[in-house]
Amino acid sequence: MDAILRIIHVVFGIFWAGTVLYASFVLLPVLKSLGPAIERPAVRGLMRVTSPIMSVLSLIVLGTGIAMALRTGLSISALFSTGRGWAIFIAFIAVVIYLIAGFGILLPSGARMDTLGRSIEGRQPAAAESEEMGRLARRISTVERVGSVAVLIATILMPLLRFL
Ligand code: HEM
Repeated sequence: MDAILRIIHVVFGIFWAGTVLYASFVLLPVLKSLGPAIERPAVRGLMRVTSPIMSVLSLIVLGTGIAMALRTGLSISALFSTGRGWAIFIAFIAVVIYLIAGFGILLPSGARMDTLGRSIEGRQPAAAESEEMGRLARRISTVERVGSVAVLIATILMPLLRFL
């Protein structure tokens, strides 16, 4: 059971953190450099597929992480009195920040962008629609960056656990 939990946690964690970091530091900046005509439909298409996958992955990593912490005997007192406990607590908070950013901002913004994009397909967008699209794209990229820093912090702490 412990081995299965560990495999699920590590494999899904690599998949999730790798995708978030790649999107934030490589893919989104490259799309941005190609201009709004390419960036907006591409971000819209990507968000539709990646947002639900990332949400499920993050919940699996968090769930298996908590299960492993409990199975290795982590108590509330050890959480705040040992280095390992602190590292797990900080990773937990970082993932919760990502989840709030993802579910609270990225998912609704992606959905709004999708609806707006469909409604202007095949015609020139009005100035207000264009402005809203730009605002949504900027919000998605900022929140994506905050989420990716949170994921990076959790990912750095994980391999350190065995030394703490
Ligand atoms: C970005 C998110 C995360 C990633 C990429 C990740 C990845 C990993 C990796 C690669 C390991 C193996 C480390 C090693 O063997 O040296 C690990 C271990 C562990 N992770 Fe995570 N993790 C994440 C989030 C979390 C969270 C949020 C928790 C708890 C709430 C957690 C709890 C644990 C625990 C307790 C272990 C050690 C299990 C043991 O003692 O064998 N992880 N994690």
